[in-house]
Amino acid sequence: MSDPKPIGIFDSGVGGTSIWKEIHQLLPHEQTIYLSDSRNAPYGIKPQEEIISLSIKNTEILLEMGCKLIVVACNTATTNAIKVLRSSYDVPFIGIEPAIKPAALKSANKAVGILATRGTLTSELFAQTSELYTQDINVIEVEGNGLVELIESGKKESQEIQKLLERLLEPMIRERIDYLVLGCSHYPYLIPLLKKILPEGVTIIDSGEAVARQTKSILERNNLLHLEKDREITPKFYTNVSPEVLSDIIQAEANGYEVAYLDF
Ligand code: SIN
Repeated sequence: MSDPKPIGIFDSGVGGTSIWKEIHQLLPHEQTIYLSDSRNAPYGIKPQEEIISLSIKNTEILLEMGCKLIVVACNTATTNAIKVLRSSYDVPFIGIEPAIKPAALKSANKAVGILATRGTLTSELFAQTSELYTQDINVIEVEGNGLVELIESGKKESQEIQKLLERLLEPMIRERIDYLVLGCSHYPYLIPLLKKILPEGVTIIDSGEAVARQTKSILERNNLLHLEKDREITPKFYTNVSPEVLSDIIQAEANGYEVAYLDF
C-alpha cells in the first residue's frame, strides 16, 4: 500500500528546516508541509503549558491539511509537549531530542557540552536521558539565550551572533569538551561559526539525520510510505511572520518549493 498524504513538520520558527532538509534528502518522494511559528519564537523561554498549547495548535493545522505523520522539529516542543500530543491524536509523532547518548559514549575527555534552550534543559525528558547516560561525564549545559532570536531575524552569520557564541562557548572550551551537542533545531545553521570558534578536535552533533531515519522507519512500520518514486512533489512552507527570512534559509536547500504567509 502507498500513502500519498504529506508529512507535517512544525517548529517555533525557521530552525526546523534543518530537520526538513534531512527528511527531504532521505525521502525525496514524500510531500512535506512545514509550519514555522516564528510569531511565537522562541518557545524555549515559555512556560510548559504555553509550549503545549502552541504545539497542539500547530498539530491541528497540520492535521487539517491532511498530514499522515507529524515531526516535532523543535527540541523544546518535543521535550515539553510530545507526551501530550501522542496521547491526544492518532497519527504517529516523531520528536527531536539532544543526542546526549552518542556524545557521552564517544567522549574521550569525558567532557561534553550541551547547547540548548532553557525549556529543553529544564524538561523532565532531558533530565531522564541525561541521568541515564552521563553518570561519569562532565556535562557543561549552556542556555543559548538570544541565538534563536538572531537566527529568526536573518542574522545567523553576523558579528553579533559570533560574539554571543564566543561568550556561550567559553565555559565549554575551558572544560576541554571534545563533543558539543546541539539541542535546538535552529543551531545547525550556526555550525560554520561554531567550527570557527571551537578548538580543533571538537565534534559537533546534531540530531537531524537520526530524526530523518526514524521518520522513515515509522512510516514503513505503519504502511504510510509513498511508494511511487516518479512523482514530482513541491514542498510547502508556511510562516506567520516573514516569508523572506524563511525563503532565505531554505533557498540553498531546495529547488522548487512554495513559501507562503499563513495567519495562525
Ligand atoms: C526555541 O523555540 O526556543 C528553540 C527551538 C528548539 O528548541 O529547537
